[in-house]
Amino acid sequence: MTDTPIDTTVAHTARVWNYWLGGKDNYPIDREIGDRVKELFPEITEIAVGDRLFLRRAVTYAIQEEGIRQFLDVGTGLPTANNTHEVAQALAPESHVVYVDNDPLVLTHARALLVGHEEGRTQFVGEDLRDTEAVLKAARETLDFDKPILLTLMGTMGHFEPEAAIELVKTYVDALPAGSLLAVCDGVYSGEEGDAPDENARAGMSLWQEHVAQPYIMRTLPEFSAYFDGLDLVDPGVVSVFRWRPEPSELGSIRDLPQYAGLAKKP
Ligand SMILES: C[S@@+](CC[C@H](N)C(=O)[O-])C[C@H]1O[C@@H](n2cnc3c(N)ncnc32)[C@H](O)[C@@H]1O
Repeated sequence: MTDTPIDTTVAHTARVWNYWLGGKDNYPIDREIGDRVKELFPEITEIAVGDRLFLRRAVTYAIQEEGIRQFLDVGTGLPTANNTHEVAQALAPESHVVYVDNDPLVLTHARALLVGHEEGRTQFVGEDLRDTEAVLKAARETLDFDKPILLTLMGTMGHFEPEAAIELVKTYVDALPAGSLLAVCDGVYSGEEGDAPDENARAGMSLWQEHVAQPYIMRTLPEFSAYFDGLDLVDPGVVSVFRWRPEPSELGSIRDLPQYAGLAKKP
């Protein structure tokens, strides 16, 4: 279990993300760096909201379309609206949810706020996600790895080098039984194919690398799509985040942002 003190002198990803989502669990340094990145990359707050929306849609899809009742949310972040267990247990109260994050502030808040519905179970694992053995061992206390699980990795794998991230995702997916789902979203430079404001993203992320404790490396589309190799992508495939099964009422207002999402099923 991680036992690192909270460092308020350097911006931390979970806290900056919480600030962009309009939360209060952050420090002056997180707000300062958050504002500076946002000046260069104004779309970032919309992207943070898009991530949470995709999380809700992925959990809802898993429950309603696949009958899944088990969830492994790796890189949870600070508690906010529509946390995985709230979405899952509102639709299926018996759902079991395991959260994994190693940020010390996330640990403090999660233990208090990420409490489960009485019929379901919610567990928080304070481990580094790169220690896959420790994470999976802890997750087995709450999840039955003989039954399908939705693994969510939202805005998290960009913190690692592309090749290392692909290996990590593969290790987690290998541990899941057939019928499980993988949902990932992260920053992707869309190049010439989209109208995404990549230049803003490049400027914002360059400032991020200098000032935030954890690096964040935007992907190319092939690097991002590689997470789903060997799995069956669910429609509409790998798309800019707001294009993943939007509500009909949203269709006219959607724009492509350099944040991609995909959900796939393990055969
Ligand atoms: C950008 S936030 C995204 C939070 C949330 N998934 C969301 O989409 O709103 C990334 C999260 O990954 C967590 N994280 C980063 N590196 C980690 C690691 N090595 N082990 C566990 N969690 C990690 C951070 O602490 C942070 O909470």
